[in-house]
Amino acid sequence: MQNKKIEINYCIYLSSEELTEEDKKLVLQARAISLKAYAPYSQFRVGTAILLSSNKVIVANNQENASYPEGLCAERIALFYASANYPNKKIKTIAIAGNSELQITDNPITPCGACRQVIAEYEIKQKEKIKILMTGISGKIIAVKGIDNLLPFCFKMK
Ligand code: THU
Repeated sequence: MQNKKIEINYCIYLSSEELTEEDKKLVLQARAISLKAYAPYSQFRVGTAILLSSNKVIVANNQENASYPEGLCAERIALFYASANYPNKKIKTIAIAGNSELQITDNPITPCGACRQVIAEYEIKQKEKIKILMTGISGKIIAVKGIDNLLPFCFKMK
């Protein structure tokens, strides 16, 4: 028997002003698109902006449904759109911004487990780590390079 330990690494930026211009633009796009989410049931809005290796940016937000499980997270809408339309481009960065209509807070949000698994899929496919920027409607940003920092032991078929 061996005891093992996994370490995760992340950075905290106090505001978008501390980011590179490229990351800042993406965070602002994620925040902006979050405000157009269709979230009448949870009133929790999530926006995401994906930067591809071609420099194309894809934005999306969460879409809910009266039949709750049929809704989908912002991240998966954007990731699936990216893969459907630009299957040969790498995903460099994904910015995720969330905020509740009920409670004003600038707490950063982090992606749900299902979205982490989907990010892992594309990271494994492209053999290059994805930068993940996580934030609220304003304020600080948590950044990780590589999904291992959010989902160690992700499911793999091989
Ligand atoms: N949501 C996302 O869009 N992304 C996540 O990573 C977590 C949750 C959405 C789903 C639902 O519309 C609302 O936020 C509340 O769970």
